[in-house]
Amino acid sequence: MKRHRERNPESTGRERARLSAKIGKDRPFAFCSVRRFAAEDSSSSLLRRMLRYHRQTYEHTIRVAGYAWELAAELGLPPAERDVVLRSALLHDIGKLEVPLAVLDKPGSLLPEEWDAMRSHCRRGDALIRLAESVGPVDSEMIVYHHENVDGSGYYGVPGAMLNVRVKLLRVVDSFDAMTVDRGYNRPRTREEALAELTRCRGRLYDPDVTDAFSRIVYRAG
Ligand SMILES: [Fe+2]
Repeated sequence: MKRHRERNPESTGRERARLSAKIGKDRPFAFCSVRRFAAEDSSSSLLRRMLRYHRQTYEHTIRVAGYAWELAAELGLPPAERDVVLRSALLHDIGKLEVPLAVLDKPGSLLPEEWDAMRSHCRRGDALIRLAESVGPVDSEMIVYHHENVDGSGYYGVPGAMLNVRVKLLRVVDSFDAMTVDRGYNRPRTREEALAELTRCRGRLYDPDVTDAFSRIVYRAG
């Protein structure tokens, strides 16, 4: 599996310094700073397209990126890797630009062909990013494999032993946000209820160490 894809390496140092200045002071979860970063980053044109196409997904990616940034720090990932995590988390659902709104917004269960369209967003997202000009460093594994479970029961059946820690942390924070946000057809879970669900599925869907680290930062945030 491919690891980081450096597209604009000369800008990495400047972006890292800017990120550290903005996000490091805005905890917990840094949603406001992540929103500003999303507006200014090399990924911004793709993200603006998502904002116009499906605001709910755009807002989801802002929150997921904030959680992912904090979790990457809690796991001790170095600054350059946290930058990659942040940008990749912002872009993780960008493939939904090519999923029909009727599927994205359908309440209740999807038909088999609708599921196929929904699942396709992982690989479509990777293809969109590869085609985009001047997008900074992105971890393509985070885009393609963010619906994989550590027991191998995810979209593509890739087990945890073959997934990097960035993919595993995105899986946890993506699920946490999906559980806690009001999507109109299910009562959103409280943070405590969502953490209990993550813990229940710890070791089956979610990496145990990553789950524990995320629980720590959510409890610290209060
Ligand atoms: Fe997704």
